[in-house]
Amino acid sequence: MSQRTLALVGPGRAGTAITLALAARGWRVVGVAGRDEARAAALAARVDAPVRSIGEVARDAEVVVVATPDSVIEAATLAVIPALGEGALVVHLSGARGIEAFGAVREVVDEARLGALHPLQTLSGDDGAARLPGAYAAVEGPPFVAELAREIGLVPFRVEPERRALYHAAAAIASNHLVALAGQVERLAAAAEVPFAAFGPLMRTTLDAVAGLGPAAALTGPVARGDVATVAAHLAALAPAERDAYLTLAREAQRLAGRDDPALTEVLRG
Ligand SMILES: NC(=O)c1ccc[n+]([C@@H]2O[C@H](COP(=O)([O-])OP(=O)(O)OC[C@H]3O[C@@H](n4cnc5c(N)ncnc54)[C@H](OP(=O)(O)O)[C@@H]3O)[C@@H](O)[C@H]2O)c1
Repeated sequence: MSQRTLALVGPGRAGTAITLALAARGWRVVGVAGRDEARAAALAARVDAPVRSIGEVARDAEVVVVATPDSVIEAATLAVIPALGEGALVVHLSGARGIEAFGAVREVVDEARLGALHPLQTLSGDDGAARLPGAYAAVEGPPFVAELAREIGLVPFRVEPERRALYHAAAAIASNHLVALAGQVERLAAAAEVPFAAFGPLMRTTLDAVAGLGPAAALTGPVARGDVATVAAHLAALAPAERDAYLTLAREAQRLAGRDDPALTEVLRG
């Protein structure tokens, strides 16, 4: 077991998950800093660490994890710098932004000591740390950032900085848009007076098929079959507020199926 030392700024969902995962791997947490002292104290107690001010948190830490919202990464890291040890690494967890999120920090800290580690996973509650092994992580910075990811079971990969926004858009679609889509399923289930839970096995199996076969091969249903009458019946049944999402994604299904079918194209014009 290693006895390397870690400090955390921002004991929220992601910071808590990473800290618990590293602590479970034998890292010693030397400080937790947050805006809300009670929240910082709750995590600190779980990893037997002191609560420290942001200006003190980095003392004796080999790695400082900055797990704040993206908009405050620069300011939070600037506040950490006075106690930052020689050679310590600072890592943020943002998906939307790479090393450039450190902004003016780069003028005072060597870039070789700055990293970004974005766990491509949704992290919340107590089981955030348990969701890390097997998930992927976009890493930027020195090779040690990838080692850190591997240590907690993440599979590291790199994204070209100019493709970062595309990468993060894909991540938002993979998670947030999927959830928004589930919201539409929930509304339609309620309107049809059937339980939302009934759609759970279908949704889970569909995701397994996508992972196993790829999106195109996993596609089934009326659009894939070119069943125009069924699609028209769906559209006639849908409340006006539900039609846009249905039409947009049915067109995406048509694109995925590679169906150049004029009758289908016409009905999907809406
Ligand atoms: N949640 C995820 O699924 C997930 C996954 C991958 C990456 N990330 C990344 O992780 C980072 C944090 O996201 P999150 O979801 O964990 O957010 P979060 O749960 O809201 O936690 C943010 C933490 O930052 C603290 N904070 C906010 N403003 C601060 C400031 N000015 N100075 C010091 N601390 C401040 C908050 O303090 P309080 O406790 O006082 O509110 C909180 O502890 C983001 O970069 C996000 O992109 C999140």
